[in-house]
Amino acid sequence: MGDYEDHGFATRVIHEGQGHNPHGALATPIYMTSTFCFDSVEDGMKKFSKEKPGFVYGRSGNPTTAALEAKCAAIEGGEAAMAASSGMGAISSVFMSLLKAGDHIIAGDTLYGGSDFVAHHLPDYGIQVSRVDTCDSTKVKAAMKPNTKLIYVESMLNPTLKINDIEALAKIAHGQGAMLVVDNTFTPPPMCFPIQLGADISLHSTTKYLNGHGDIIGGIVIAPAEKMVDIRGIGLTKICGCPASPMNSWLVLRGMKTLDLRVRKHCENAMAVAKWLEAQESVASVFYPGLPSHPQHELSKRQFADGLFGGMVSFEMKKPNGMSRFEATERVMNSLKLFSVAVSLGDPDSLAEFPAGMTHLVVPQEEREAVGITDGLIRLSCGLEEAKDLCNDLRQAFSGIN
Ligand SMILES: Cc1ncc(COP(=O)(O)O)c(C=O)c1O
Repeated sequence: MGDYEDHGFATRVIHEGQGHNPHGALATPIYMTSTFCFDSVEDGMKKFSKEKPGFVYGRSGNPTTAALEAKCAAIEGGEAAMAASSGMGAISSVFMSLLKAGDHIIAGDTLYGGSDFVAHHLPDYGIQVSRVDTCDSTKVKAAMKPNTKLIYVESMLNPTLKINDIEALAKIAHGQGAMLVVDNTFTPPPMCFPIQLGADISLHSTTKYLNGHGDIIGGIVIAPAEKMVDIRGIGLTKICGCPASPMNSWLVLRGMKTLDLRVRKHCENAMAVAKWLEAQESVASVFYPGLPSHPQHELSKRQFADGLFGGMVSFEMKKPNGMSRFEATERVMNSLKLFSVAVSLGDPDSLAEFPAGMTHLVVPQEEREAVGITDGLIRLSCGLEEAKDLCNDLRQAFSGIN
């Protein structure tokens, strides 16, 4: 879809959805308005009944946000897109509009904490949820039921960086008339295009790579036009009430102009950091889909475009003498100078997260270790700095435990 389909990604991400505006402004104007005036009652009637295109009220649509939506739909190859005030708003709008009591869904057993929370609560609304290791297609097949409406997965698991096979999952879902919904936040275009791989719906926390500057919270859903009627009309507008603000839509539009350049640099830096980490004495193992040591390296090469493997690297510290693994990892984290100790990802600044001490602190040790979240695990979001400076920062942090 889109006006520049026969162009390369770097061109498309700049020009798609740009549209025309009354004064010929090159940058999309920010329409900071809650409501839209009608020429007459008749004009209002036509817009409300969708007989005539147009905006009626900011919760259901806004021209700045519409430009962002058109760009995202075009670059991911979807029919329609809808921007939300957060990634969680996008996810909740999908669940709350497409599911009803009596439906069954399969959700990955390792999901971002917020999505995990939503999946946890769906049974309260009469929706059955099976939590499955979705990286194993046979387990997914076995969990399918006649009332399975959708399979929900993340393209790359957090923080273990395992990969879901989108093509295989789409085939399983479609074989029984279900949908595949993929959270593509960790693997943005030009790296991964879930809809082109067979997914029905792709979504992002735009807070991360799509905006790419660490200064907003936002989300986007890309879906077939027919599904979007309810995702927007019921999920976003009525139940969740979480439209993207025009200012934030504008910031994401601006951020996306450099998406191609940024994602390639994030991936280049992550690859350099992953290779460097693999050679370090203090490191027990490195998890990065671009390394041949990653168990799904072959799948990653097939699924991700242009030799891009993402900006995230996880690794496990060895237990040094005279210190627990938790203590050693904490000491390394506290010694970092360029990497900021913070959650989130996809910012120009490199970030480091210690799952056992931060995001997964409340998860019982046995439970988190079963999914690979040990006391020695550190997750890095490699930013846009010089790769050698990032490696040097890690080197000086490791020196504190050796
Ligand atoms: C994979 C993934 N999906 C969804 C979200 C939620 O996005 P937001 O924080 O924009 O609501 C996050 C947040 O970190 C995430 O990592």
